[in-house]
Amino acid sequence: MASTSVRDVALRAGVSVGTVSNVLNRPGKVSPSTIERVHAAIEALGFVRNDAARQLRAGRSHSIGMVVLDVSNPFFTDVARGAEDRAADEHLTVLLGNSDENADRENAYLDLFEEQRVHGVLISPVGDETVRLERLLRRGIPTVLVDRQTDDDRFSSVAVDDVAGGYLAVRHLLDTGRRRIVFVGGPESLAQVTDRLAGARTAVGETSDATLDVIETDALTVLQGRMAGERIRDLEPSDRPDAVFAANDLLAMGVLQALSMLGAVHVPEEIALIGYDDIDFASAAIVPLSSIRQPSALIGHTAVDLLVREAASPDGFVHEHVVFQPELVVRASTARRP
Ligand code: RIB
Repeated sequence: MASTSVRDVALRAGVSVGTVSNVLNRPGKVSPSTIERVHAAIEALGFVRNDAARQLRAGRSHSIGMVVLDVSNPFFTDVARGAEDRAADEHLTVLLGNSDENADRENAYLDLFEEQRVHGVLISPVGDETVRLERLLRRGIPTVLVDRQTDDDRFSSVAVDDVAGGYLAVRHLLDTGRRRIVFVGGPESLAQVTDRLAGARTAVGETSDATLDVIETDALTVLQGRMAGERIRDLEPSDRPDAVFAANDLLAMGVLQALSMLGAVHVPEEIALIGYDDIDFASAAIVPLSSIRQPSALIGHTAVDLLVREAASPDGFVHEHVVFQPELVVRASTARRP
């Protein structure tokens, strides 16, 4: 059945469309008897003002709101795909928003999801949003933190141990004989970056003749990786590192592009390179990229599973903090020196 329009309500109530709009938006301008006639027509026709009102009438939305840091990063689209697969089991849909690592954009999506009274929220947070997420909770909207470790018992969370992942990456570089390592990643406001760097420092600290320098980037993108790679390429060969650990695969792809430009630097012979996430492009790169694999689809699937269980029994729900272990995937970009 086609949805009822404002015009249908106006005809039924014997008033103009403008009067119906006044009843809905500026009732102070309309006589009580007219308000009563219009509301009787709305009720009789089942008119719903907009999607949010329909969902309010239904009591709860059939959508899950999801905010990720960078929708152009295949890691997050893989997470979203896993979330969608689990949501479909519950006949729920996923509304995907991109914060672009920007707190204002993230808040705009959280406001929208609150207005829509979504079934729940999945968020890979830019910073510490617990005060804002607490407000959602008070509105009966549960939230699961994705790709963020926490011990906050108000929210469930699903993540990978990024400290262990950073350790694995640099331990592997050291085991292949590299000693002058550069970490490329940023901003350091992101927990994923600082955790991976912390693991890298631990691995280097175990090897007396190893060094670790940091090139902080403004974002975790191919462009930022290219800029970091150009800085490394432009160093005197004797001043260059012999290995790069990039905080994610997009950065690593950018570093690889810059180093390989015009055959300037040979990967891995002169500089080994390892990324993080193991997105599909990693294995297809011009020099297949070693990486630290995250079970991205499983992260999304697990997050929705936690969310639907909490939404079904909110009172006394015991929140869980799921932490997956990262996996080293070795490819050509870190092969031992000949
Ligand atoms: O966008 C931030 C990064 O953190 C992603 O590449 C992925 O590694 C996530 O864990």
